[in-house]
Amino acid sequence: MVSLIVHGGAWNIPDALLGAHRDGCASAVGKGWGILSSGGTAVDAVEQAIRVMEAEGTFDAGRGSHLNADGHVELDASIMEGRSYRCGAVAAVRRVLHPITLARKIMEESEHILLVGPGAERFAVSAGMTLCKESDLVMERERALWKSVNAKSGFTAKHAFSKHPGDTVGAVAIDRSGNICVGTSTGGTLNKYPGRVGDSPLIGCGSYAENGIGGVSTTGWGEGMIKIVLAKTIIDHMEENGKDPQKAADYGIDILHKKVDGKGGVIVLNHEGRVGFAFSTPRMAFAYMTQEMNEPRVEV
Ligand code: GLY
Repeated sequence: MVSLIVHGGAWNIPDALLGAHRDGCASAVGKGWGILSSGGTAVDAVEQAIRVMEAEGTFDAGRGSHLNADGHVELDASIMEGRSYRCGAVAAVRRVLHPITLARKIMEESEHILLVGPGAERFAVSAGMTLCKESDLVMERERALWKSVNAKSGFTAKHAFSKHPGDTVGAVAIDRSGNICVGTSTGGTLNKYPGRVGDSPLIGCGSYAENGIGGVSTTGWGEGMIKIVLAKTIIDHMEENGKDPQKAADYGIDILHKKVDGKGGVIVLNHEGRVGFAFSTPRMAFAYMTQEMNEPRVEV
C-alpha cells in the first residue's frame, strides 16, 4: 500500500500556533501524496514534503530555525532509502535553505554519508545548489526567542527542549515498488552550543529505513535519542514483533522515557504502508495519507 506520514515536531505547541502547524503538515502531505499517488518515488515524495516544511517559516527546520548560543542557525538533515540502505546526511550548515536536498545529493552524488559545516556547503555548490544568506533563514520570532533565553544563566539544551519549540520535521513514505524512504530535517535545539549536532542527521537515531520492515523519523530531545539509537531501535522492534508500526512507535517512546528520561515523538510506516505514531510531549504535529483513505488525517 502506498502511504506517507509527515511530522512537524513534538513539543508543547501553544493554541495560537496550532493552525500554522496544521497547515504546514497538510501542505507537506499534500505535496508528497501528489507525487506518490501519480506513481512517483518515495525518495521524491519525502524530499518534496520536507522542502515544503523547510520553506514554511513555521518549523524549526530551514527558514525559521532556532538560533545557537552565538546567534547563528546551524541546520542538520538526513535521508535514507530502504532498498539499498543508501543514505546521506548533513550537519551544521548555515546557508542552505533545503538541507534535505543537500542530504539527498550527498546520498546520490558522493561516496560519503555525512558532511558537515563548510565542507558540506562546498559540496552543495559543486552539486549545483545555490547557497542562501544566513539572514534568509533567520526569522524575527526566533531572534526574539533567542534573546530571551541567551542572557539567562544555567540555560541547557534539554531545558530548552522541554520549555520551548522543538519543531524538527520529518517524513516517511512507501511507493508502488515497495521502496521505503525516510527524511528528517532540523535547526536543532534552541541556544545549542555552536557545532552541536543532534539525532536528526545521524542514521539510526533520527532516520532509518529498511525495505520489508519499515521506516522511522524522530523528533524531540536529540541527546536522548542518540543514546538509545531510537529510529533503528524501533525498526528492530518491528522486525522482532510482527511488524506492527503502532506497537513499535509506542515501544520507542516508552524506552526513551524509561532509559534516558527523554521526551519526543516518532512517526513510523511498516512494509505494508501501515502507520504508527507516538509522542510523550503535550502535542505533536503530524499528517498522513494512505491508499485506503479518501483524504489526509492532519493532527496537532
Ligand atoms: N531532535 C532534534 C535535535 O535534537 O536536534
